[in-house]
Amino acid sequence: MDKFIIEGGKPLRGEVTISGAKNAALPILCSSILAQERCTYANIPKLRDISTITDVLATLGVHTESWQNNTLVLDPSGIHAFDAPYELVKSMRASILVLGPLLARFGKAKVSLPGGCSIGVRPIDMHLKALAKMGADIAISHGYVIASAQGLTGARIVFDTPTVGGTENIMMAATLARGKTVIEGAAREPEIFDLACVLNKMGACIQGAGESTITIDGVDSLNGVEYSIIPDRIETGTFLVAAAITKGTLTLKNTRADQISAIIDKLQDMGVEIRVENNNEIFVNGNHDLKAVQVETVPYPGFPTDMQAQIMALACVAEGVSSITETIFENRFMHVPELMRMGADLEERGPTVIVRGVRRFQGASVMATDLRASASLILAALNASGHTEIRRIYHLDRGYEALDQKLKRIGADVVRERGTL
Ligand code: UD1
Repeated sequence: MDKFIIEGGKPLRGEVTISGAKNAALPILCSSILAQERCTYANIPKLRDISTITDVLATLGVHTESWQNNTLVLDPSGIHAFDAPYELVKSMRASILVLGPLLARFGKAKVSLPGGCSIGVRPIDMHLKALAKMGADIAISHGYVIASAQGLTGARIVFDTPTVGGTENIMMAATLARGKTVIEGAAREPEIFDLACVLNKMGACIQGAGESTITIDGVDSLNGVEYSIIPDRIETGTFLVAAAITKGTLTLKNTRADQISAIIDKLQDMGVEIRVENNNEIFVNGNHDLKAVQVETVPYPGFPTDMQAQIMALACVAEGVSSITETIFENRFMHVPELMRMGADLEERGPTVIVRGVRRFQGASVMATDLRASASLILAALNASGHTEIRRIYHLDRGYEALDQKLKRIGADVVRERGTL
């Protein structure tokens, strides 16, 4: 397993080009199952999660024709299998997003239950209940969801709490269902809007994506498509924090400021200077004193849970007492003990972490535990005095494209040591 060694204290300066959004790419690649013809997707980040989903799709018979310069070409015309095996699903929960498309197009699917996950239980009950309401027969057997349908039927689906993956699965399933589906209480994340855009370009009839009620009128078939996916808002947020935590100045290119308003607002509250140029370019100057902040993670358009660990790292070196409350996942504070090993003053009180600001992190040996927790440790290390070793950074490679390369280009002292435990 690779590790990072970071010598902290270097202000980051320069330009960063933000990669395509992992969480938009994953459902969009799954939506190729619905198409009759070849699909070409641009701005796909080179990430382990993307390879995992193309492996899942390959087991079904979706052929990867090429993947060059971040453009991925998939040919779904040879789909011959309907099973997503445990070995692949266990390494990435988003594999469950093949369920809705398989059921809608072929009337059958067998997908491993994803099982536990380091940040919480994360059930898929809402996905299954909604598909059952659309006429699917669903059984759980030997750790697999086994689903079949003689053609799905449109239905009124009400989600009590917004689920990103659930909304995506049902939206995809409904594109080929008979009649109208209305999803109430839908998640409103930009990745859902992006998925709806690609599906509509394929010939689907979806209205209201990005709002809490989505209406889908089923159609008979969907075409191939060419589509470029949105920039990654969490990568953008992570680089904003990287500038702030190193007192650097960065220009972030190929991004979307309108999709990260909640992140920009909180960072500005903390004293970080941020200027937006034409929505797709953001300038950040971290050379200001940082103030404490109160953050609560909530569904979009609120502050995202996927930025909770990163803003906590920043709050650790801000003046005063911050509080950070996680409301989406029950076990998403795995970074807390690791940040404390680096000198942070943190106290967990149920879903809230009280952060008492210290002047600076201290380098130490730490262990990455999940994707966004890893990002918070990198940020802490960039600020720290001395050097930090971060083990198990394979978590990071799941979701940040070439992060070490990007950081090096803007002045960070980062070394990737390969193959160490
Ligand atoms: C997606 C994102 C993930 C992000 C999360 C919340 C992808 C690939 N992943 O995950 O990065 O952190 O949204 O913004 O896009 N829940 C249930 N039953 C269900 C479904 C969800 O109880 O059937 C619960 C979950 O356990 C969680 C909450 O609902 O507590 C939100 O989960 P959900 O929005 O579904 O997250 P994911 O789609 O898994």
